[in-house]
Amino acid sequence: MKALEGVRVLDLTRALAGPYCTLMLADYGADVIKIEVPGKGDDTRAWGPPYIHDESAYFLSINRNKRSLTLNLKEPEAREIFMKLARDADVIVENYTPGVVHRLGIDYDSVKAVKPDIVYCSISGFGQTGPYRELPAYDQMMQGVGGIMSLTGDPDGPPMKVGIAITDIGAGMLGAYAVMTALFHRARTGQGQYLDVSMLDLQVSWLTYQAGAYFAAGSPPPRVGAAHPNLVPYQAFKCSDGKYVNVAVGNDRFWLRFCDALGRQDLAQDPAYAQNKDRVRQRAKLVGILEQEFKKKPVKHWVQVLEKGGVPCGPINDMADVFSNPQVIERKMLAEMDHPTAGRIKQTGISIKFSDTPGEIKSPPPVLGQHNEEILTSLGYSRDDVKSLKQSGIL
Ligand SMILES: CC(C)(COP(=O)(O)OP(=O)(O)OC[C@H]1O[C@@H](n2cnc3c(N)ncnc32)[C@H](O)[C@@H]1OP(=O)(O)O)[C@@H](O)C(=O)NCCC(=O)NCCS
Repeated sequence: MKALEGVRVLDLTRALAGPYCTLMLADYGADVIKIEVPGKGDDTRAWGPPYIHDESAYFLSINRNKRSLTLNLKEPEAREIFMKLARDADVIVENYTPGVVHRLGIDYDSVKAVKPDIVYCSISGFGQTGPYRELPAYDQMMQGVGGIMSLTGDPDGPPMKVGIAITDIGAGMLGAYAVMTALFHRARTGQGQYLDVSMLDLQVSWLTYQAGAYFAAGSPPPRVGAAHPNLVPYQAFKCSDGKYVNVAVGNDRFWLRFCDALGRQDLAQDPAYAQNKDRVRQRAKLVGILEQEFKKKPVKHWVQVLEKGGVPCGPINDMADVFSNPQVIERKMLAEMDHPTAGRIKQTGISIKFSDTPGEIKSPPPVLGQHNEEILTSLGYSRDDVKSLKQSGIL
């Protein structure tokens, strides 16, 4: 038995934010029916190259464990099918531009009329209220609007975005958390509800200690590259082979261990660097000294020495390093499966390890409309009905 077995999710999402939300539900056993535009499907089916035998690597990475149903929701008959499915569903997740679900007649109130305890989650760029609500949104712009790009990158360089679309994935995770919290509430009270999740709220809520620094100082915190605004040394240092080592001296105990590992007792004994607040104030001078030290040996040496000394540290791995790392392999974070058209594919594994109801990769990402017949016949349509619905462009 999976933790979410028997929970049916109608998944009206595409791109990354919504599909990541429903991936989190699907991985732990929910029956996720991904509803896609006929003939085209999720936009990310076209996001590439790279492709694996015509399947977009992007799409494949976030849509396993889901079933695909094509429905042209602008057609009344398709809406009828959707509402039949909604009657038996527990959760709906959508990430259209706000306003679209109302135009399609599948908004919360319409679904609630046929399924009063539905948990209905909308994920959008700016939320369902406020002056920006109707703006379309992608991670690229949201990392800027929400403030994270102003904090990322070198002090003298241009603002940078994080190398993964964190605003999308974060909003997707927030959506999954919202759905689970609402299902918990529904289990206790029998009541469903509407959940309004936005990429903006997600990002602003993530500003946490940087927002705290701004509120305290009254001026926006500067970019500090691969360093930390409130901790020193807590950054990447260049080594003799041109590679970088990350060092995270998060308290004064680690500072002593760090000096020990480096063989710099002079620094450990220097009262000017004894406490983190001193080191933050003396950042430029101290980091200058440490930069010279790290330039003397290659990254492998420093990782070994610091690890042995009990200092939090690590190399900066690329994808090849990550997916050959023994810890990543041991944690089953590299998964493989057979796909009907792409063949054997690899992707990231199941992230949360449940003791009694572990998540599972039970099916590969679906091809477009792969489950049309299976789903419609379960609603009572015949195979001939499915054929004619397809011919008339409803499926
Ligand atoms: C992602 C986004 C920018 C894409 O914008 P877009 O391509 O204009 O897509 P929309 O959501 O506005 O939908 C476009 C049209 O497709 C239609 N459509 C979508 N699914 C359909 C279906 N199954 N059948 C028929 N029509 C469908 C909609 O009705 C809409 O048509 P309309 O404007 O005539 O009503 C936008 O959906 C958005 O901002 N979403 C919220 C934030 C988000 O999740 N961003 C992506 C993060 S990865």
